[in-house]
Order: sequence, then C-alpha cells, then structure tokens
Amino acid sequence: MANIDADELHLLMSFEASRTAVPDGFPELPPINSQRYIDDAFALLEREHIFGKSWLLAGHMDEIPEPGCFQRWDHAGKPVLLIHTEDGQISALLNRCSHRGAPVVQAQSGRRRLLTCSYHGWSYSANGDLIAVSSERDFRQLDKACLGLKSFKCERLGNLIFVNFDSEAPPLNASLGALSEQWAEFELGNCRLSRRDRFLVKANWKIALEANMEVYHVPTIHSKTVASVIDSRRNVNTLYSGGHGRMVAPMPSPSTWQSSRREIASVGEIGRTCTLSYNVFPNLVMPLNQYVIPPIQFWPLTPDQCIVETWTMAPDWTSDGAQVGPDMWTEENGARPNQILREDIEMSEAIQLAMSEADDRGIPLSYQEARIYFLHQHMDEVIGRERIPTSLQVPPVIGEDWTSPNEPRLALATK
Ligand code: FES
Ligand SMILES: [Fe+2]
Repeated sequence: MANIDADELHLLMSFEASRTAVPDGFPELPPINSQRYIDDAFALLEREHIFGKSWLLAGHMDEIPEPGCFQRWDHAGKPVLLIHTEDGQISALLNRCSHRGAPVVQAQSGRRRLLTCSYHGWSYSANGDLIAVSSERDFRQLDKACLGLKSFKCERLGNLIFVNFDSEAPPLNASLGALSEQWAEFELGNCRLSRRDRFLVKANWKIALEANMEVYHVPTIHSKTVASVIDSRRNVNTLYSGGHGRMVAPMPSPSTWQSSRREIASVGEIGRTCTLSYNVFPNLVMPLNQYVIPPIQFWPLTPDQCIVETWTMAPDWTSDGAQVGPDMWTEENGARPNQILREDIEMSEAIQLAMSEADDRGIPLSYQEARIYFLHQHMDEVIGRERIPTSLQVPPVIGEDWTSPNEPRLALATK
C-alpha cells in the first residue's frame, strides 16, 4: 500500500513553518481574471468540457444496495439514473426514453425489476436494454437492439460511485492517480453513508469550492471553529497531475472530534494527527480521518449560483449501539449548514455580489493558494486554451517540477 509518507510530511511541515518567503524556485502566479467567475460563455465551456469530461462523485452504494435499486442524479446538468444491475454492477443511464424523450423514471429513488416509461410504457432493463414496446404492431421496423437508453461510464471506488459523461475518458483509477493509493488506508469499501444534503449558494461554484482549497483564511474566518484543528503555518500543499491537490496541517491540540466513534483501524499517523484534505478535480473536496469521511461537492447552476452538496460517511455506527450516524455538516437534521460551512458560504456569497466590480488587476494568489491556481490552470488545459479568450486564460506556470512526485521543497528543507 502506498501510504501517506509521514516522514516526508513532517520535514515539509517544519520547512513551511520556518520559511520567511515563498520557497526558492516556486513560480510567480499571474492574477486570475475575475470574469472567470461571472462570464456566461466561460460557464458554458466549463459545463461542456469540465463537467462533461471529468469523473464526478455521483452516489454511494448504501443508496442503491440491491439489484434493481435506482436513484436519480441530476446534479451535473444531465438527467441520470444510477441503477444496481442483476450482476452487482452499477449502471449510469440517461433518464430519457428512446421513444419521445419522457423521463423513464420519475420517482427520486426506488426499486424496480424493469424500468417502464410512464408516457407510453416502453420497458428497459437495468442495463438500459429496450425489452418491450407497447403496441409494437403499430411500428414498422423498430430495431429494439438499437433503442436502449444511453449509458455513461460508471465506476466504483469502494462504496463511492463515480460517473463520467465522456466515453473516451481514462479509467477512474488512472484519473485519480496517487490519490486512490493514498486513500486505501481509509477503506472506502467499508464506509457507510450517514448523510447527504444539498444547499443552494448564491456564488459561482469555484468561489465556494476555493474556500476549501486554502487554509490562509482559517485563522480569520474560522477563528472560533476549525482554527483549533489546523496549524495553518505548518500546512503543506501538494499538487498532483490531473489538477488534484492535497493539504496536510498538524492539529495544534489533539482533536476530540467524533472521538467516541468507531475508528477506521488502518488509518496511519498523518490521517490521525493532522487535518488532511484532498481536492479532486474538478469539484470534490475530500477530507479524511480515522473517524469520519465528509466530502463536499460544488455544482454549478448559473454563473452566480451553485449547489453545495455535503456528505458524511463513517464506519458502521450501529455496531456501537448508536442509532444515528454522524453528521459533519448540517444542523437540525439537514435544515441548514452548520456554522463552519455557513462561515464559508456567507463569505462566498458576499464575494460573488461584488465580483462584477472587480477590475483588470485580477485576483492575486499567494503560494498558500497554489492549489486554486493549479485548479484554474488545469481547467484551461481540459477546456483547451484555444477556446478561451486570451484575457481569461490562466498561464500554465506551475510545471511538473512542482507536481508530485517531484518535491523541490525536500531539497530546500534539508539545505
Ligand atoms: S416517451 Fe417513453 S414510451 Fe413514449
Ligand atoms: Fe473555510
């Protein structure tokens, strides 16, 4: 198992704490054009090329545990049906009947042996094959074999279900790269889903996401909440090819966080003693520790609105006699985001309000905010720079030399 390298990270944490300037050789980051957060045409490019071609976290096996169980998933701009097939696989089907386009399934979730369209009754299998057509005698030459539901790439990582709309996309594991190896110790195949909630946020999806991609704001915005579990001066950001990133920051005082809960025994030292969180391109933030795995996702609606979706996963809590699973993100059973999340959401909405007033000086990012720059840099690569107006582009200044497994800070730390 390629574990998270604790020795190397301790060295890097000391380096980060002791440095008095940006590390030697780290590139200068040009300001980001604020139009990227408000421009309609750019939002369309994002939808087509980024959300249309990336692996997106779409569901959890607990939501569709048995063959025939289905769940609708419309968050990424297409009506999708996730369905557990007879052979134990999950298929992701377009919820659009091949006849005249009615939704094949209108319920949010359920269990069916056959999917029967509510408009004229065409029936499909869980694999999307067209099985039966009502009044078939009225059609001439209907080739049922060619009229199945459109299906999308769908893969699992443990209990997590990912979908990719691009039929040419590389496998999920290849796209996650080192991340899936580092996550092995968190046993995602054993983590149960405790909660999944959605909140409308009046901000561009990237503004809301970026609040989870740097710890620069933690001592100010979160002084009364997460600041106590993140030593931001010692934070180590790591960049991974594919636009992913990781933060590791020691906890100043040992966390009592969820400590009455069952632990994931295989979690190593970093997961136990540090705040560890990954950003997975494009829209997933994945914090991990030995008690709870609480991902957050950011789904664009319009250029100035998004959905923040929060998840809480944990090892089985009923084995501790607890009836109710953990909830990392909401208050009163999903009625509203909890305080930590509200602190970020309120700030994101306030930023969005004034975004149209931003000027051509752009948004200056620091070394601490490199994961944000790297996200934008990779977005442009995925969209294709030739499609983006020059003034909106983010120059690819972060090279492979600053992308894992390369780690120039190790040489600087031992100098
Ligand atoms: S639209 Fe589905 S059967 Fe007609
Ligand atoms: Fe925050």
